[in-house]
Amino acid sequence: MQLIDGRAVAAQMKKEITEEVLKIREAGRKIPHLAAVLVGHDGGSETYVASKVRTCEEVGFISSLIRYEEDVTEEELLTCIYRLNKDADIDGFIVQLPLPRHISEQKVIEAIDYRKDVDGFHPINVGRMSVGLPCFVSATPAGILELLRRYEIETKGKHCVVLGRSNIVGKPMAILMMQKAYPGDCTVTVCHSRSENLKEMCLSADIIIVALGVPEFLKSDMVKEGAVVIDVGTTRMPSSTTRSGYKLTGDVKFDEVSPKCSYITPVPFGVGPMTILSLMRNTLLAGEKSIYK
Ligand code: GUN
Repeated sequence: MQLIDGRAVAAQMKKEITEEVLKIREAGRKIPHLAAVLVGHDGGSETYVASKVRTCEEVGFISSLIRYEEDVTEEELLTCIYRLNKDADIDGFIVQLPLPRHISEQKVIEAIDYRKDVDGFHPINVGRMSVGLPCFVSATPAGILELLRRYEIETKGKHCVVLGRSNIVGKPMAILMMQKAYPGDCTVTVCHSRSENLKEMCLSADIIIVALGVPEFLKSDMVKEGAVVIDVGTTRMPSSTTRSGYKLTGDVKFDEVSPKCSYITPVPFGVGPMTILSLMRNTLLAGEKSIYK
């Protein structure tokens, strides 16, 4: 069994992006600028956004954090998005999800100029990804592809089971794993909370990507010998042994599943660190106008 070290790959990507920013600076070109919009004080969102802003600074980008209280109206938030769309200094921006219930996430996502949608959530980016056109690919699936690529994991002709059908991970992941490319060329099955034969599907999988948000869902009796397992789960479980008071728990029962795997990502330090670096890569592409002029 080989552990996929997301922290090490992310550190390497960070170095590569930092070098690119240095070249941009030396050439006197515009330094990429990422803005993040954060609504409310959800603990997870606070941590993720802080980490995104910190990583921007570490690679040499300019970053802006725009905060709103939980009671911001949909109209106020949309006005902010229209302003960011027009602001020529901002190359890309994200609105951290989830949003409070009185705000339509879909409306917010569709209000973002797709050319600045470094999260890759806008229907134009999702549609372009689906037909294999250049676009911003959402960060978690892009990070997983990067891990498969850097570990040179064979995907062609393999059966890939994606557990979960979210717009952010499950659906784009399934599309990317079936694309005619490397990584890709898989036979893909998507299973979800209503699937009747989920265990049988998993048992026939060469690659399992679990993005259900159900702690320790994938057990050893659901995994065949030699499978590749990618764990996207990051549930915060209360813990008395950590300083933060919680422990990140994945969707895979790691101790019993890992001995059966050829490759497996741990939680934490598997997929998580890659997600932020994929966002940085998208921001670099946005700054360089590499995808959209
Ligand atoms: N919430 C959970 N993951 C993400 C992400 O990748 N981007 C945004 N904007 N919100 C999220």
